[in-house]
Amino acid sequence: MLSYQHAYHAGNHADVIKHVCWVAIIEYLKNKAKPFTLFDTHAGAGLYHFDADEAQKTSEFETGIVKLNSETFSDETVTRYLELCAGYTRNRQYPGSPALAADALRSGDSLHAMELHPAESDKLTRNLTDRGEGHVHLHYRDGLEGLVAMAPPRPNRGAVLIDPSYERLEEYAEVVDAVAATLARWPQAQIMVWYPLLSARAGKKAGASEAMRNKLADLAKTAFYADLTVTEKETDTGMYGSGVCILNPSWQLDETVTAALNCLAPSLADNADATVNWLKTEPV
Ligand SMILES: C[S@@+](CC[C@H](N)C(=O)[O-])C[C@H]1O[C@@H](n2cnc3c(N)ncnc32)[C@H](O)[C@@H]1O
Repeated sequence: MLSYQHAYHAGNHADVIKHVCWVAIIEYLKNKAKPFTLFDTHAGAGLYHFDADEAQKTSEFETGIVKLNSETFSDETVTRYLELCAGYTRNRQYPGSPALAADALRSGDSLHAMELHPAESDKLTRNLTDRGEGHVHLHYRDGLEGLVAMAPPRPNRGAVLIDPSYERLEEYAEVVDAVAATLARWPQAQIMVWYPLLSARAGKKAGASEAMRNKLADLAKTAFYADLTVTEKETDTGMYGSGVCILNPSWQLDETVTAALNCLAPSLADNADATVNWLKTEPV
């Protein structure tokens, strides 16, 4: 059962933290001339319209990208993210993760974007078909299965975005299993997993993200997480923020992510708060 549609949520505060961190990872990889491969296991439709019925129903884009658009930021990563978004937002659109990656890649780099929902996959194909001279590959398939099957890429430099909708409680465990299988084949993979931060009102899913990121950290050589909360946990009806767990991060990526999130948090909400912590470091 795949009922989640990202069009209701595109451009919200959760997309902002996820996409800022994804852009930071890609820009770090671009510091070296050697080509790299990106995998986006849950790609979505790739492009969203603020005036679409779904977006108008929730107006969630107003909790994220719209708040940042009217401001100028000094942080390099936030600036780069907004630069990548600008061509879309000026047309009342928001780029999904595969569009951001496709725009940021160099001609020798590659992207594999996977989407399992048939209608979303069709939209992804329509929205990204003209991108990248042969180095953007779109797959209608299960992204976790596809990632394990395609790992490691050649050359084996690269990064992975895992961004499920967590509609089912079992998805948390499925992510851990897929990451374990991927790292067994591609130990140096840099893997970013997005997760929602859910209050007790989410029932069994409350705390599942925090438990998952601890299990993920056990699998990697090094790992840190970055959370961005936008409302108080106790008063929120559901998702009070979200975060990313980054396994095998590039050197000093934590500092870049900390600076970016601290820079944009005050613009997202009065009591927005960013936290970055290491879960696993190299033994000294
Ligand atoms: C949160 S959305 C992705 C948003 C996108 N990553 C972005 O940031 O623009 C999750 C997507 O995963 C898709 N999906 C769910 N299960 C999947 C699976 N096993 N493999 C690939 N895609 C899946 C859903 O249809 C949905 O479009």
